[in-house]
Amino acid sequence: MKAVEIIEKKQNKELLSYSEIEYMVNSYVKNKINDKTMSDFIWAIYYNGLNLTETYYLTDVMIKSGDIIDLSSLNKPVVDKHSTGGVGDKITLIVSPIVASTGVCVPKMSGRGLGLTGGTVDKLESIPGYKLNLSKKAFIDQLKNVGCAVISQSEKIAVADKKIYALRNEIGAVDSIPLIASSIMSKKIASGSDVIVIDLKVGKGAFMKNIKDATKLAKTMVKIGEFYNKKVICTLSDMNIPLGLNIGNALEVKEAINFFKNVHDKRLYELSVYISSLMISSAKNISMARAKKLVINLLESGHAKNKFYEWIRSQGGDITKLKIDAKKYIVVSDKTGYINGIDSQKLSQLVFDLGANRVKKTDKIDYSVGVSLTKTVGQRVTKGEILGVIYYNKKVENMDKILLDSFIIDRKKKRNKKIIIKTIK
Ligand code: URA
Repeated sequence: MKAVEIIEKKQNKELLSYSEIEYMVNSYVKNKINDKTMSDFIWAIYYNGLNLTETYYLTDVMIKSGDIIDLSSLNKPVVDKHSTGGVGDKITLIVSPIVASTGVCVPKMSGRGLGLTGGTVDKLESIPGYKLNLSKKAFIDQLKNVGCAVISQSEKIAVADKKIYALRNEIGAVDSIPLIASSIMSKKIASGSDVIVIDLKVGKGAFMKNIKDATKLAKTMVKIGEFYNKKVICTLSDMNIPLGLNIGNALEVKEAINFFKNVHDKRLYELSVYISSLMISSAKNISMARAKKLVINLLESGHAKNKFYEWIRSQGGDITKLKIDAKKYIVVSDKTGYINGIDSQKLSQLVFDLGANRVKKTDKIDYSVGVSLTKTVGQRVTKGEILGVIYYNKKVENMDKILLDSFIIDRKKKRNKKIIIKTIK
């Protein structure tokens, strides 16, 4: 087989066989073809697409390029949750203990943040002592004893995806539906859960900018799941507005703690309750209404909060030592009116510039910095009232103006976009 012929085939919009895709992927992993040749292959897919069968082939080859986790010894329903990356997205910190409180296991391997979206692993790392690298045995024991475990994505899972995804990021070929679907699904299927709930973000702060493309991606992932007998459920959720009131690692952990103390932002609450209900209802085969009742009960009774503390403690974290020791800069409104929008992209760029995220995987980040909003969409604000606080260690030029400009304040109140757009299963 020759790489150049396979690339030409895709450039001519012809269908590729399993062995052709396998040849390209495995040759790249083994350094038998270089970045330039692989980039040509990726661009050929980017512009000409893959049909569902080819997308499944690519997923399968990437799954087989690394370890496949067997969680059958847990003898309990196992459900994984994945977010395609949102601004202020701390949902994993909230839903994992809620779902684990119902006897369903939640094994999560999460990634670090890269670019503008923060990673769950970075958020957890802001808790002193929290261990992100557990041995396979410790991971399984934690799941057996506590019910949820959140660790760093293993380097050995979907090895090919790691290399290809890094190259796609470098050459700017991320937003291709078959490439995204196979990348996410290869990691999720290799991680061993029976049910996979995907929170697919749509809007300004997400890589899926519109509902049409997001729906296509969701349907592709559900279909890939069918090849492996896995239940895949995708919820499209709005990412035009940040999720919750805080963006930044330690600030988001603090928001999750407050969530369990029943202090929460309305949209964050709505999505958290919905995603946990979806996870429980599909893992336990019960109705959404029953699952939702269970979730609300667990939150109101304090059971979910206890599970949250149990989980963090058992992975070595000491929540009492969580520190947000950055300097504070208070930003007040320069107008009176209704908040009709908050630009999540602008805010995530600001938080990135403050140092909360990285460009390269090896960059150091500042866990204490970020933005904490005091007002959100739908609320009225008067001139001089506080809109938010910037936590900083090094000032970003015009940071107060950036925060101010991210708020859309009008005289008339507009209807808010719903957080949950639709669910595809
Ligand atoms: N997340 C992934 O894991 N892969 C992609 O291709 C895009 C987002």
